[in-house]
Amino acid sequence: MSMEKLVAYMKQHGFVFQGSELYGGLANTWDFGPLGTALKNNLKNRWWQRFVQESRTNVGLDSSILMNPAIWKASGHVDGFSDPLIDCKACKSRFRADHLLEGHDDTLHADGMDIAAMETYIAEHKVPCPECGKHDFTSIRQFNLMFKTSQGVVDDQSQTIYLRPETAQGIFLNFKNVQRATRRKLPFGICQIGKVFRNEITPGNFIFRTREFEQMELEFFCKPGEEKTWFERFVNESERFLLDLGLSKDNLRLREHDADELSHYSNATTDIDYRYPWGFDELWGIASRTDFDLKAHQTHSNENLEYQDPVTNERYLPYVIEPSLGVERLFLAVLADAYREETLDDGETRINLALHPAIAPYQVAVFPLIKKHHREEALRLYDKISKHVATVYDETGAIGKRYRRQDAIGTPLAITVDHDSMDDNTYTVRDRDTMEQVRLHEDDLIDYICEKTAF
Ligand code: GAP
Repeated sequence: MSMEKLVAYMKQHGFVFQGSELYGGLANTWDFGPLGTALKNNLKNRWWQRFVQESRTNVGLDSSILMNPAIWKASGHVDGFSDPLIDCKACKSRFRADHLLEGHDDTLHADGMDIAAMETYIAEHKVPCPECGKHDFTSIRQFNLMFKTSQGVVDDQSQTIYLRPETAQGIFLNFKNVQRATRRKLPFGICQIGKVFRNEITPGNFIFRTREFEQMELEFFCKPGEEKTWFERFVNESERFLLDLGLSKDNLRLREHDADELSHYSNATTDIDYRYPWGFDELWGIASRTDFDLKAHQTHSNENLEYQDPVTNERYLPYVIEPSLGVERLFLAVLADAYREETLDDGETRINLALHPAIAPYQVAVFPLIKKHHREEALRLYDKISKHVATVYDETGAIGKRYRRQDAIGTPLAITVDHDSMDDNTYTVRDRDTMEQVRLHEDDLIDYICEKTAF
């Protein structure tokens, strides 16, 4: 399916709207509508359930977006969190130099290349500008991606601070706090979901690369030497999470980073890529980060962050495995994967958004067959079911049209109140995927719904 079609579909049904639309928009910002908000919350809740609630080792955290700027100096973000920027002198288009190279030769991984090597490549291969075709570029400059803002009410006394570009550092800072407060022994993990901000040079592909987005990050602390085993385990667990959400295995690929592509703090990184409408691209990064971050914060803060093994009394800085996933990228992958157009026997086309029932914006739709006669009973049922799962009520149009509407937004079950329901409290329950119907008594309804829409 094309990206244009997916974007139009999301807007029409209230998944995602353009940000600041009334005022002509603000480039690459997006607002999540009623259905988008529900789906996004379901994805975040599912991640939390899997990696915190069901975990024997992990706990949650909600650290602040604004942090002491010394943190970003220690973490390396002030000096090193930048992308290589290049401009076409002829048409003034601006690119990320590594993306320019990868666009020219899709077998290249220019992520880890230094500036001199990229400039040599561009010159030797006479790389053309993707916009105007000319080969006339500026030299490459490093552009720091952190958003700056200032804190304080008096202008000349205000302090420059940054909007966090990842949630991870908030976790590292609280490692000792959490370990002490929860009396955790290694290995254990700290999970966090939250907004982050990056002044991306070339945002794009709809919600895939934006300047404001949400991350779901897990920092898993383990004994040095054990990190390889945990790393492999988290690559597998992350992939399993995606498959359990219903993503097709054919649309997922694991991509190990080559040694020259690894970040300076990492001794192993694997990306889980998804086949987006434009091709495979990063969905989830799993990195083995050694003790780089804790060591940096220990040095810069002069606080001892070592862990003391309660059995051996050995003291050391834990190593860290970090699975880091973007909420919006998961959202896009889940929607692209679930969208189906089917031609029915009568020649009509139906859109079936075959989402896993548990993450659909609504689990149940309730309809009165005839508004005038069945409205009160349908609303009574709505009030009862909505205490258990997300429910929508619809009384407009022919019943077939109402089914189609719910199929198109992924509602797995549609319940119709009809004439017989008024006498015997039984209702028709239709399944989104098979379109088959069963007749159920009210006493069995909630159990049936919960069973059909659980993970
Ligand atoms: N703490 C590690 C970290 O932040 P990252 O690879 O820069 O690593 C992790 O980001 C994840 O965040 C990515 O795999 C992706 O899912 C998401 N992400 C990164 N930049 C993004 C952007 N500009 N827009 C949307 N999602 C993004």
